Amino acid sequence: MEVVSNEERFLNPGQSAGIDGREDKRLRPRDFSEYIGQEQVINNIEIMVQSSIKREAAMDHALFSGPPGLGKTSLAMLIAERLGSKLHMISGPAIEKKGDLAAILTNLKPRDVLFIDEIHRVHISIEEILYSAIEDFRLDILIGQGPSARTMQIDLVPFTLVGATTRAGLLSNPLRDRFMATFHFDFYSNEELAEIIALNAAKLDLSINPDAIIEMAKRSRGTPRIANRILRRVRDYFVVYGADTIGKEEVTKALDLLNIDHQGLDSMDRKILSVMQDYYNGGPVGIEALCATLGEDKTTLEEVYEPYLLKEGFLLRTPRGRVISEKGLEHILK
Ligand SMILES: Nc1ncnc2c1ncn2[C@@H]1O[C@H](COP(=O)(O)OP(=O)(O)O)[C@@H](O)[C@H]1O
Ligand SMILES: [Mg+2]
Repeated sequence: MEVVSNEERFLNPGQSAGIDGREDKRLRPRDFSEYIGQEQVINNIEIMVQSSIKREAAMDHALFSGPPGLGKTSLAMLIAERLGSKLHMISGPAIEKKGDLAAILTNLKPRDVLFIDEIHRVHISIEEILYSAIEDFRLDILIGQGPSARTMQIDLVPFTLVGATTRAGLLSNPLRDRFMATFHFDFYSNEELAEIIALNAAKLDLSINPDAIIEMAKRSRGTPRIANRILRRVRDYFVVYGADTIGKEEVTKALDLLNIDHQGLDSMDRKILSVMQDYYNGGPVGIEALCATLGEDKTTLEEVYEPYLLKEGFLLRTPRGRVISEKGLEHILK
């Protein structure tokens, strides 16, 4: 069986950016004009933002869901900037105690934006604090234990919670119900990715032929974060081997080195399909069994790899498990 190298992990769209500092700050959209695609989401957000400004009140809470690398964090940053508010960012699993969250909430200034990434991973006992905080801008804190315990209430300033999750389905109902607007982020079209790559190539001072840009877009798995990573690798290739402009040939060579094929699938994607075929006769196979054979964690498989393979029809989900499609079979047999 193929060994997954560091290269795959480097390309893994689920790998959190920003936190490990690997994301290039220059490549983040600086304003709404640089935020390409997701029109449905953007149109609604623009209205929510403008309404908040006109009402001189906090923007309504919003929940962003969708696979990693599709622009959830970037949009939260743009919202705060447009509102002229401060953005406070925290990752759900990093909130260890109720007190941590209480401290963040009590430090907010009116109309600030609190962005909680991976909000489905906030511990349930901590999550409960959020209910009254976002519904009534009030903190209910239980003091003491047993019969002498009492609830203390602290008023909070009006703020906006933006939650991001790769799996909206894993959010508890009480929390999900308290968001006034929910937005789902979809994979990007090749045209949109090409636009993003062209924009970012200019930011990196790179001259790339249009056909090379289209080739990069096609291999980006519908994901801007991957498009950026491919762009940087192509840049490296270009720096090392040199040329006046980057053409399709250079791009193809760089992508082949990265093991990204013409449909944008990387080694892990292909490994998933081959394992299904070789070990399970094409399926149906349950997710647990598949993960065990792959030696991959279930969450990563479900949140990072599967959505794109499903969307592109390389594999199918049936009540009895995952099945490889004809397209998937063709792809690995080629
Ligand atoms: N709509 C977009 N337009 C332009 N660039 C984008 C867009 N969405 C994402 N990107 C790029 O992809 C990178 C990853 O996006 P990010 O917002 O961190 O994704 P998420 O939070 O959904 O995982 C950003 O730094 C940005 O460069
Ligand atoms: Mg993010």
